[in-house]
Amino acid sequence: MSEVVIAADAEEAGALAAGIIGRLVQDDPAAVLGVATGSTPLPLYRALATLGLDFRGVTAFALDEYVGLPPGHAESYRQVIEREVVGPLGLDPTRVHVPNGDPEELAHAGSDYEAAIALAGGVDVQILGIGTDGHIGFNEPGSSLASPTRVKTLTPETRADNARFFDSIDDVPMHCVTQGIGTILRARHLILLAFGEAKASALAAAVEGPVTASVPASAIQLHPRVTVIVDEAAAAQL
Ligand code: GLP
Repeated sequence: MSEVVIAADAEEAGALAAGIIGRLVQDDPAAVLGVATGSTPLPLYRALATLGLDFRGVTAFALDEYVGLPPGHAESYRQVIEREVVGPLGLDPTRVHVPNGDPEELAHAGSDYEAAIALAGGVDVQILGIGTDGHIGFNEPGSSLASPTRVKTLTPETRADNARFFDSIDDVPMHCVTQGIGTILRARHLILLAFGEAKASALAAAVEGPVTASVPASAIQLHPRVTVIVDEAAAAQL
């Protein structure tokens, strides 16, 4: 673990994380970013958009995608990333990669994605949120700490957490394609963000508990360069 920063609130945390990523992109306009969905990174994307940087040469890889949502579905992570990241930052859409959640393509979706990341030279900075059950990406408890990008089944807890984005919980897909924990650990710098008391117990387990597949986010302790930026509520159990 490299450092844990407790910010006053999500806005301040987002600004701190945006500062790190902004400096990277300024130094390397062809940087490779690992982008995350969920509500957690939104203050970071908002802060990043105010920096006035040129993101046209930046390549981005999303962490995960649902399986089986129709193309263009507003809650597919492809659409979320376009709405929250690609548009506001002015990324070149042809440089933005999201795992392929087409049910017909699942046999090679994981290996194709690993190959694309390798071809891009790996991820410079990976942005991470954390699930209330300690997942990162969609690596649910029990995921191998060495796992590559692959198809996973979502837990009932994660489907319930994400039901707020859908008309009903029945509409939340059962499966996803997610970067593995091994994939995430190959990024050169990890920035994990967590806000609110609902994340406090998962965060404490990830940062201070044993490294275990029962808490996938605890794998960040194996990485030499991690910046954890949280608000006071998420830090309450540290
Ligand atoms: C989803 C995503 C994760 C994200 C998590 C937390 O499950 N696959 O990448 O970290 O939700 O979401 P939120 O940031 O909305 O709390």
